[in-house]
Amino acid sequence: MTDIRKSIRFILNDEEINLTDVTPTQMLLDFLRLRQRLRGSKEGCAEGDCGACTVLVGRLSGDEIIYDSVTACIRFVASLDGCHVVTVEHLAAKDGTLHPVQQAMVDHHGSQCGFCTPGFVMSLYGLWMRDPNPSTPSIEKALQGNLCRCTGYAPIIRAAKAISSYGAPEADPLRAERIAIKARIMALNDGSRVDFGEGKGRIVVPATLDDFAAAYEAAPEARIVAGSTDVGLWVTKFMRDIGPAMFIGNVPELRRIAENDSEVRLYAGVSYSEARPAMVGAFPQLAEFWDRIAGEQMRNMGTVGGNIANGSPIGDTPPVLIALGAKLGLRKGEHRREIKLEDFFIAYGKQDRQPGEFVESVTIPRLPVGEQFAVYKISKRRDEDISALCGAFRIFVNDAGIVGMARIAFGGMAATPKRAKTVEAAIVGKPWTLETVEAAIAAFVEDYQPISDMRASAEYRLTVAQNLLRRFHAETTGNGQQLKRAVA
Ligand code: FES
Ligand code: FES
Repeated sequence: MTDIRKSIRFILNDEEINLTDVTPTQMLLDFLRLRQRLRGSKEGCAEGDCGACTVLVGRLSGDEIIYDSVTACIRFVASLDGCHVVTVEHLAAKDGTLHPVQQAMVDHHGSQCGFCTPGFVMSLYGLWMRDPNPSTPSIEKALQGNLCRCTGYAPIIRAAKAISSYGAPEADPLRAERIAIKARIMALNDGSRVDFGEGKGRIVVPATLDDFAAAYEAAPEARIVAGSTDVGLWVTKFMRDIGPAMFIGNVPELRRIAENDSEVRLYAGVSYSEARPAMVGAFPQLAEFWDRIAGEQMRNMGTVGGNIANGSPIGDTPPVLIALGAKLGLRKGEHRREIKLEDFFIAYGKQDRQPGEFVESVTIPRLPVGEQFAVYKISKRRDEDISALCGAFRIFVNDAGIVGMARIAFGGMAATPKRAKTVEAAIVGKPWTLETVEAAIAAFVEDYQPISDMRASAEYRLTVAQNLLRRFHAETTGNGQQLKRAVA
């Protein structure tokens, strides 16, 4: 029988916080600014886009504390149980001496109005701790989720490159206090289930995966919250009540990654950032795509399992995983079943998930030798944008040049992430030539009747999807000239 605790406990900078009056919708940024009077973290957008509210959250992973940059505006207080929250106020020394990150920003003129600056400082602090001498691409990646309207980014990047000349991470105060903090964090992670509040005010933070399965089976009306990159906006933008809520982000068994020679299995609480080494290691074609999923803070918070479970037609990972032939592990209580991921998405807002059942894992088979694979994300901005459409292509061409297998899947083209089965059928068994591709192009209208919305018109979506097939053909045959002729 799991012990029950009726409070949320975490460490804020160096102060232990013990809250018995948290509501499911309470956000960390409001808690910091309104209740703790820590106003360094700013609210720019309240939807995880601008980074002005960036803080670091440390969580136990085995014997280590892993610190991630996250956006406090859409991070629920209840999700912080057993964590260490570090805000910009914790960086300068007690005598007011600025932290190396802060001093570098001052000296390199990385701030004008200053509204974005605390967020940049915290993102750069997170980067500096794990990479004291970052390259420009690494800096740009770490800052994808931070927007500045007035300074411009060049001085900030110069500051980022100079931080280590002001001090080494080994001398960082947070590193010095790490051992003591770890002991305190370990004590807070006491193996209890957090469970308090009534009705819509109920909060559950399960202790283990089995505990979660039992709790959710008993209360299937509860909202599951993992990374909160979507559910957070339901609260900040639509003022929705999400309770009763189960916060599963720190359930240890859900943050596992299992790999063998034939497959990669991601459990449902694995963040995009955690999944990257395994996914890009198994599928190098995903490297650029993976770094275009939102920004750094969102990749630290958001989970692949959540991206699947919420069933959005424009989620980035489902078309990729469908093309790769992924299987979904579902669990209700003690009962488990596995289905093809493509069968999970039934209709808009409707997935093959029973009350009390949840996504436990997704298993992705490695590509057989000789298969070719590519993914293309189309969005208005390179970084931190939602797809207008996203297409994943996988093909096997035999020694005679004939297509033996094709799997093509798109997001943003239908009410669900969906395979282009008619297009596939028009390719399989044919020579992998531009003539075959051109003949198959017409089949897109059989598979997809996209809508027009603020991201793209239906006509644009269809045209781009067709051109992506041409592009995939050109790239897999090494003939860029064919591509130029085809789209001319
Ligand atoms: Fe913009 Fe939080 S306020 S990301
Ligand atoms: Fe003004 Fe960045 S310094 S928004």
